[in-house]
Amino acid sequence: MQVVTTIAEAVRLRQQLPRPLGFVPTMGYLHEGHLTLVRRARQECATVAVSIFVNPTQFGPQEDLAAYPRDLPRDLGMVEPEGVAWVFNPSVEVMYPQGANTWVEVGALSQPLEGAHRPGHFRGVTTVVAKLFNIVRPDRTYFGEKDAQQLRVIRKMAYDLNMGIDIVPVPTVRERDGLAMSSRNVYLNPEERKAALCLYRSLQLAQRLYRAGERDAEAIRRQVRELIQAEPLAHIEYVSVADDETLEELAAIGGPALVSLAVRFGRTRLIDNVTLR
Ligand code: PAF
Repeated sequence: MQVVTTIAEAVRLRQQLPRPLGFVPTMGYLHEGHLTLVRRARQECATVAVSIFVNPTQFGPQEDLAAYPRDLPRDLGMVEPEGVAWVFNPSVEVMYPQGANTWVEVGALSQPLEGAHRPGHFRGVTTVVAKLFNIVRPDRTYFGEKDAQQLRVIRKMAYDLNMGIDIVPVPTVRERDGLAMSSRNVYLNPEERKAALCLYRSLQLAQRLYRAGERDAEAIRRQVRELIQAEPLAHIEYVSVADDETLEELAAIGGPALVSLAVRFGRTRLIDNVTLR
């Protein structure tokens, strides 16, 4: 496995290694969810590349950039046995050299939900992902469904900008008790970790309501909210029932609907979702 930090080295590797090239962009502090993306890429591609880069432009001024967990030796030890051919681990200066001032922004899809609560977040995500795509030039890239809006925004960017890259969605990986895997779970203290289970329970409730025939989106939002509010450590940012494609909030559920939520436990902000179909 080669670990490269410069764009010149990345360009050399992308020209040498066999195709198709599968790519898993990450911010490091890897967990089983990331490894699931890597394994899927291994199944489908001759070469797999992983990037590890904590992207400053997708964090707001009050967010956890400085505290974001980092452990490169641990990450490399996790991906090497998975058959990853190369890891791209650039510095902030390599990705954003002095004077860099071009941004990639996806319109309406990046406005609601995470976009509304984390102003500028998706501009940072789409800019860095576009840059990573240009540097790595993958054939296929793999994104977790846990970041439901991110997946849709990146798919739209790739389509609108004719990038010719397959964006492959991979189902959320959960702990045994249902908590969605996330690098941010390490911030939770034991009480918060226990409290955070209300997220999965609330999504299961949404699924049960839907299966029982409920199609009133507000009724589902209300019951999901009530279940979470019963947990004193949980502070809801949003609970949404939206069109699965456009992310517009629904009144009545006609087609596939994305139930998504963002909830704070202490200083830790968690997101999760399920699609009703
Ligand atoms: O999902 C993430 O880890 C990040 O948003 C990504 C896609 C690697 C861009 O920095």
